[in-house]
Amino acid sequence: MPSYADYLKIEELLGLQQPLSSGPEHDEMLFIVIHQVYELWFKEILHELGYLDGLLGRNDGPRARHTLKRILTILKVMVAQLDILETMTPLEFLSFRDRLESGSGFQSHQFRELEFALGWKDPKALNRYPAGSEARNRLERRLAAGSLWDTFLRYLVANGIAVPRADLDRDVTRRVEPSHDLRPILVDVYRTRPELGEVCERLVDLDEGLMEWRYRHVKMVQRTIGTRRGTGGSAGADYLLSTLNQPLFPDLWAIRTEL
Ligand code: HEM
Repeated sequence: MPSYADYLKIEELLGLQQPLSSGPEHDEMLFIVIHQVYELWFKEILHELGYLDGLLGRNDGPRARHTLKRILTILKVMVAQLDILETMTPLEFLSFRDRLESGSGFQSHQFRELEFALGWKDPKALNRYPAGSEARNRLERRLAAGSLWDTFLRYLVANGIAVPRADLDRDVTRRVEPSHDLRPILVDVYRTRPELGEVCERLVDLDEGLMEWRYRHVKMVQRTIGTRRGTGGSAGADYLLSTLNQPLFPDLWAIRTEL
């Protein structure tokens, strides 16, 4: 049996936090650790989404709901972790910010993969990664593949729901767009098929959870750097504000008024 340290590669893991500021500035360690923790959670969520895709594809509702619950629990922890970063004052952050140069979560390819896997697709995101790089290849594969929404629609079909052909054949390289023909069918699912309706509710939880992360992140950004431009090159808070309130699964929100 490998030891704890061997199995988890603790020595390598603890050697990965390398501040760039001179001193180094005290808060840079927190900044590095929290980003690394996020990247690990992104990795785990992508791992679970791959599993979820297989479960929905095999029409295994109970385990799919269980996996969705796990993903949602991780997402809640990810949102809560922003509280830790908010203990860092603007002056503490500015003490090492210039060392980040163009580094920003904006460049996190795992976050873009997560968005793509959930159906929030923007081919322009690919341009931030050099052609042929591992990150670019992964994103290209995700762009071309169906998203969670596409798998979910097929799961409905496998359960006898007449999903419109146009929705099943949609261009998967684009964001999920509202579908007026699908809405009455989803309303019917909620009214007559509670076990399928529950999956819909978990998708709404996921959608709301990601919106919550975006909202908390932008608030943290506003209180830490105000209206400064981002190190990733965007307008900063104004750019982040433009990503709020944009649902992943618009039809699941649109039908609420009719339920
Ligand atoms: C003091 C802490 C932080 C500040 C001031 C900050 C600031 C920003 C800014 C200004 C942007 C806009 C893009 C740009 O850089 O131009 C951005 C994007 C982003 N940040 Fe942060 N961030 C912080 C912490 C974090 C953490 C801990 C994560 C976790 C991984 C993170 C993940 C992201 C992601 C994924 C984006 C892209 C969002 C999108 O394009 O919708 N950020 N951040």
